[in-house]
Amino acid sequence: MILVTGATGTVGRHVVRELHAAGRKVRALSRNPEKASFPEGVETTAGDLTKPDTLAEALTGVEKVFWVLPLAVNLEFPRIARQHGVRHIVLLSSMAVEFGEANAIGRNHLKAEQAVRESGADWTFLRPGGFMTNTYQWADSIRSAGVVRVPFGDISSPAIDSRDIAAVAAKALSSDGHEGKIYPLTGPESITASEQVRILGELLGRQLGFETIPNAIAREAMLRHMPAEIVDALVDLNRQSQRFSSVLSTVEEVTGRPPHTFKQWAGDHLDAFR
Ligand SMILES: NC(=O)c1ccc[n+]([C@@H]2O[C@H](COP(=O)([O-])OP(=O)(O)OC[C@H]3O[C@@H](n4cnc5c(N)ncnc54)[C@H](OP(=O)(O)O)[C@@H]3O)[C@@H](O)[C@H]2O)c1
Repeated sequence: MILVTGATGTVGRHVVRELHAAGRKVRALSRNPEKASFPEGVETTAGDLTKPDTLAEALTGVEKVFWVLPLAVNLEFPRIARQHGVRHIVLLSSMAVEFGEANAIGRNHLKAEQAVRESGADWTFLRPGGFMTNTYQWADSIRSAGVVRVPFGDISSPAIDSRDIAAVAAKALSSDGHEGKIYPLTGPESITASEQVRILGELLGRQLGFETIPNAIAREAMLRHMPAEIVDALVDLNRQSQRFSSVLSTVEEVTGRPPHTFKQWAGDHLDAFR
């Protein structure tokens, strides 16, 4: 049995689908499984990763876990999983670990990696850069005003399709040889936010505006939804994203097929922007 945490989330939902399609026994964890929908045959289980006493049922009979960190990270989880007999943990970490302890997102992921190593389970760390799904935050403004306003619009980075992260995760969870491996993951091309907006406009058949805004304004908007420490970490990652502009071949090496381009991703998710 493979337990997928974050099973209703950006990457986890695709991990569930991939494993199920490959004929694996999958259990999907959610705090509210009654509200979630999964392919027929997927087991669902209720549990809260920040409350260890809610996880016994979810972990019973499980050999492998896909671990997605919620914002409030519970570093006890790998040890508890190991106590229940889990042999292998595949962690959705982040390229932000390369920023070290100074960045709150990098710090959370570094601590989680350390907790997995110390649990005694086999491990695989996936370290993706920015997700293509981050562009969903433009959807309201595209719909209402036909314009995207972001800071750092001229810095290019190789955003990744969450389906490609999930494909790597599914390989790591269902085939041998991924133990002790760290997989930094990117999409196939390094492009700027303004190029992404141009592609969205082309697919939507609309001319979209693009404006670069000061950091302080972007920060203020994010503070409405996220803790200040995480907002500052995101601003820092954006500011320095040129450090992560290299395209890596890891997705293709692990899955045997190239990752999706932004144009492919946008074409498959266009309804979100209409
Ligand atoms: N966005 C990026 O560019 C990027 C880049 C690199 C790494 N990452 C990392 O990728 C991970 C996923 O990020 P995301 O923003 O896309 O989130 P997400 O996967 O959409 O996260 C939400 C998921 O986490 C689950 N969850 C939240 N709190 C939980 C809790 N207390 N107990 C159990 N499950 C809980 C939710 O399940 P229920 O609501 O169903 O319980 C949902 O499935 C994060 O660790 C992030 O740092 C993101």
